[in-house]
Amino acid sequence: MKAVKVEASLTYEVLIEKGLLSSAGRLIKNIHKGEKTVIVSDSNVFPFYGEKLKASLENEGYNVLSFVFPAGESSKNTDTLVELWEFLAKNHITRSDALVALGGGVTGDLTGFAAATFLRGIKYIGIPTTLLSMVDSSVGGKTAVDLKGGKNLAGAFYQPSLVICDPDTLDTLSECIFADGMAEVIKYGMISLPDFLGVLETEADICDIIETCVKAKRDIVNEDEKDLGVRQLLNFGHTPAHGIELLSEFTVSHGSAVAIGMMIITKASVKAGLCDKDALTILEKLLKKYSLPTGTVFSPEEISKAALNDKKRAGGSITLVIPEKAGKCVLKKTDVSLLNDFISGAWDK
Ligand code: GLY
Repeated sequence: MKAVKVEASLTYEVLIEKGLLSSAGRLIKNIHKGEKTVIVSDSNVFPFYGEKLKASLENEGYNVLSFVFPAGESSKNTDTLVELWEFLAKNHITRSDALVALGGGVTGDLTGFAAATFLRGIKYIGIPTTLLSMVDSSVGGKTAVDLKGGKNLAGAFYQPSLVICDPDTLDTLSECIFADGMAEVIKYGMISLPDFLGVLETEADICDIIETCVKAKRDIVNEDEKDLGVRQLLNFGHTPAHGIELLSEFTVSHGSAVAIGMMIITKASVKAGLCDKDALTILEKLLKKYSLPTGTVFSPEEISKAALNDKKRAGGSITLVIPEKAGKCVLKKTDVSLLNDFISGAWDK
């Protein structure tokens, strides 16, 4: 079993191994001595893995409750959060109990935020079941729900006590959802892991891929848990991506939008003389290999306007993640008035 230790405001392990879900109860017992556990999951994931997890937890003597909500980003809101809080209150959950998030990013974000706020903070454990949540959202303690005004606007930095990744759970993902995760995997290569980009050109082992990404994220989170500096590198491609997601009314998935966003920023950086041309060739090749899109129907004007609704914007400036070469990105504070001009470079012939 692979184990990656994260040392943020809380120290915890991310465990990676095929088949680990059946040992979840035993692994959780090592870090949670309380009486109750509450599985939080959605209507897609619970039917596949809920009973297996429940049995594993009950085997360790836990009293197990389950809260299952309708699958989809539209459930990541304050209504579902209040329902979850009320469920925990009705079932007399105390600070010595724990929540277990079984699912993708929506489940992890919602459960983490409920754990951060219920009784001013109870323990939670992440069991991510999508590639995207294994390599990104389950690690690092960003928890949130969406508001009508935008995605992830109400949230907290709150670390899990343990993360269990069982790549067997990826078998039930559609190809598109798997590809979504690969966009974030390629992102790690582009921001800081040049050798890993070469590995991704081969048929790499999924456990190794997850471990490499989790270690890269761990290093960033250990240095900048609160997203004030180096953690912003993880937003490579995300500024145009948020614009594209918004313009498409979320019919373009997050991973696809990140893939297109990375292409836009890399092309624009090459055009501006900030980035080595090879980076673009390598990025495009990998995105195609993993069936990810590389272009969009939206114009640079539309994308920059939509992207500037992004909450990560600080006053009149925005921090862009600029690739210098394949495997190295830097942060560049840019005046918002220059965003459109900059990304327009990606459309120049
Ligand atoms: N998903 C980006 C971060 O965790 O900072």
